[in-house]
Amino acid sequence: MHGTIPRRISLIGFMGSGKTTVARLLGLKIGYKYIDLDSLIEQRAGRPVREIFKVEGEKIFRTYESQALMTLQEQNDIVISTGGGAPIQENNRRFFTDLSFTVFLYVSFDEMLKRTFAGKKSRDLRPLLQQPVKDIENLYRQRLPVYESLGVKVITDNATPLEICDEIAFLAGL
Ligand code: S3P
Repeated sequence: MHGTIPRRISLIGFMGSGKTTVARLLGLKIGYKYIDLDSLIEQRAGRPVREIFKVEGEKIFRTYESQALMTLQEQNDIVISTGGGAPIQENNRRFFTDLSFTVFLYVSFDEMLKRTFAGKKSRDLRPLLQQPVKDIENLYRQRLPVYESLGVKVITDNATPLEICDEIAFLAGL
């Protein structure tokens, strides 16, 4: 993607890293359409993510997630906020390496807990936060190297969504 203006920008990172907020703002700033992968999955499946996890299980959710991501490979001028697990599936990785300019929004573990546990709703809506903190931490630590390997890292702990958005636009050459 070097040297050309990216037609697709993907934000990856753990839950609570600000992917949704930043992608929405970034879309407005650069005039790209904002797409939330979880919302796309929900539209296609006709039910909320937490319902899919509860009734069909995570494995089926991951299939829906890949299918939804693949529908985006020929769309242009889009900013995608992905779910925290999307880059973990190997069959999705080509999208992030070859088909989009990918940004890893880094959030420290403590900051992530603060953000996602602040509103009960934000926690309740996320099936993978319904487990002991030490298991959430394991998941977080396992995923970091994958995020690191796929995206340009932007640290979010002490930055506002607008600042992050400006940094991404700069990095993407937009
Ligand atoms: C998940 C993150 C969620 C959602 C699903 C699974 C994950 O998205 O896709 O609950 O595996 O980390 P957010 O990262 O937007 O919360």
